[in-house]
Amino acid sequence: MSEMAPKQLLPFLFLVPILLLLNVCKEAMAVKQLRRGFYSESCPAAESTVRKVIQRAMVKDPRSPASVMRLQFHDCFVNGCDASLLLDDTETMLGEKLSLSNINSLRSYEVIDEAKAELERICPGVVSCADIIIMASRDAVSLTGGPTWEVKLGRKDSLTASQEASDKVMPSPRANATYLINLFSQFNLSITDLVALSGSHSIGKGRCFSIVFRLYNQSGSGQPDPTIEPRFRRMLDGLCPKDGDGNVTGGLDATPLKFDNQYFKDLVQGRGFLNSDQSLFSGDARTREIVIKYSRDEKAFFKAFVEGMVRMGDLQSEEPGEIRKNCRVANHHPPDQMLHSIFLEA
Ligand code: HEM
Ligand SMILES: *[C@@H]1O[C@H](CO)[C@@H](O)[C@H](O)[C@H]1NC(C)=O
Ligand SMILES: *[C@@H]1O[C@H](CO)[C@@H](O)[C@H](O)[C@H]1NC(C)=O
Ligand SMILES: *[C@@H]1O[C@H](CO)[C@@H](O)[C@H](O)[C@H]1NC(C)=O
Ligand SMILES: *[C@@H]1O[C@H](CO)[C@@H](O)[C@H](O)[C@H]1NC(C)=O
Repeated sequence: MSEMAPKQLLPFLFLVPILLLLNVCKEAMAVKQLRRGFYSESCPAAESTVRKVIQRAMVKDPRSPASVMRLQFHDCFVNGCDASLLLDDTETMLGEKLSLSNINSLRSYEVIDEAKAELERICPGVVSCADIIIMASRDAVSLTGGPTWEVKLGRKDSLTASQEASDKVMPSPRANATYLINLFSQFNLSITDLVALSGSHSIGKGRCFSIVFRLYNQSGSGQPDPTIEPRFRRMLDGLCPKDGDGNVTGGLDATPLKFDNQYFKDLVQGRGFLNSDQSLFSGDARTREIVIKYSRDEKAFFKAFVEGMVRMGDLQSEEPGEIRKNCRVANHHPPDQMLHSIFLEA
C-alpha cells in the first residue's frame, strides 16, 4: 500500500487537515437555520426553565420582565441576536453595557445569569445566551398580560462585542418617527414593525434623564415639547424638575406593569413619555395611522407585536459563535479568535 502513496499526493494530504479546520470554522459561524423546538432533544426543559426564572424574578421585582425584554432589542440591533450585549468589558474589549444608550439604563442582566446557571446545571454547554434572551423576552411579555408565541432557537453566542456599534445604532429617546422609520428599515423592519415593537413600552420605566430636554428645552428652543398634553406635562415637571435627579423614573405608559395597548391610547392623548414615543403619533402621518389603529384594537397590536419580535429575533450575526458557559465572558480567548479569523479569511 505504501507504494500507492506517490509523492504527487503529498500536497493534497496537507490540504486535508486545513479543509477539516475550515469546516469546523464554518460550523462555528453564527448564521444558522433557526427553528422551533431546537432544544426539544438536547435540553427538553430549556423553555420551561427560563420561564420559571422569569416568573421568580418578577415576584422579586415587578419591573424585571420589562428590563429583560428590552435586552432583546439592544442585543439584536447590534450585530444580530448573539448575546454580544451580555459580555463584560475586558482589558482589550469595550463591551456594550457601557454604551450611550445602555449605561445606567439597562438592567436585569442577573436574571439572564440565573437562567444560564440553571441551564448549565441541567444541560451543560447546550443552550446559548442569545437564545435565553429570546425565550426570556417572550416569557416577559406573556407573564405581564401580553400575547405568547413560539420562538425560533439555535443561535450562537458571539466571541466579542462592540461598544462603538452600539453607540452608533441604538436610538436616542430624542429620536423622531422619521429617523426611526429609516433606522428600522436598515434592519428590514417595516413601519408597522416599528410602531408595534415600540408598543413594548407598554411595560417598564424611563428616567428623567431621558425626558428633561423635552420638558424644558425641546430642540434647543428653551420651550417644552408642544405636543405634550398640558396636565401630563405638569405631572412630568413634578416628577422631573429642571435640575433634579436624572435617575428618578416614571412609567412609560399609564399601566407600566401590564402589557396592553394603553401605550397607544396614551400617545393619542399626548401622554407619551419619551419623545420617540410621542413622535410616532405627532411626528409622522405614516406612523400616526398605525398608532390610532392599535389604540382601538389590542388584538391587532398583539398580532403585529409578535410578528415584529420574531422578525427582530431573526437578525443574525455572521461572525463565528459558540455556546458560552457564562453569559458575561467568552469561552474562547483572543488567541482562538485570531485563529478563527485567519482561517475565515483563507
Ligand atoms: C423605537 C425606538 C426605541 C427607542 C428610541 C427606545 C428608547 C428607550 C428609552 C430611552 C427607554 C428608557 C431608558 C431610560 O430612561 O433609562 C426605553 C425603555 C424600554 N424599552 Fe425602548 N426604545 C425603543 C424601542 C424599543 C423596542 C423595539 C423594545 C423591545 C422590543 C423596547 C423595550 C423597552 C422596554 C421594555 C423598556 C423599559 C425597560 C425597563 O423598565 O427597565 N424599546 N426605551
Ligand atoms: C427628525 O430627526 C432628524 C435627525 O435627528 C432631523 O434631521 C429631522 O429634521 C427631524 N425631523 C423632524 C420632522 O423633526
Ligand atoms: C435585508 O434584506 C436584504 C435583502 O434581502 C439583505 O441583503 C440584507 O442583508 C438584510 N439586512 C439585514 C440587516 O438583515
Ligand atoms: C437649550 O438647548 C440649546 C441647544 O442645545 C442650548 O444652546 C441652550 O443653552 C439650552 N437652553 C437652556 C435653557 O438650557
Ligand atoms: C445615575 O446613577 C449612576 C450610578 O449611581 C450615576 O453614575 C449617574 O451619574 C446618575 N445619572 C444621572 C443622570 O443622574
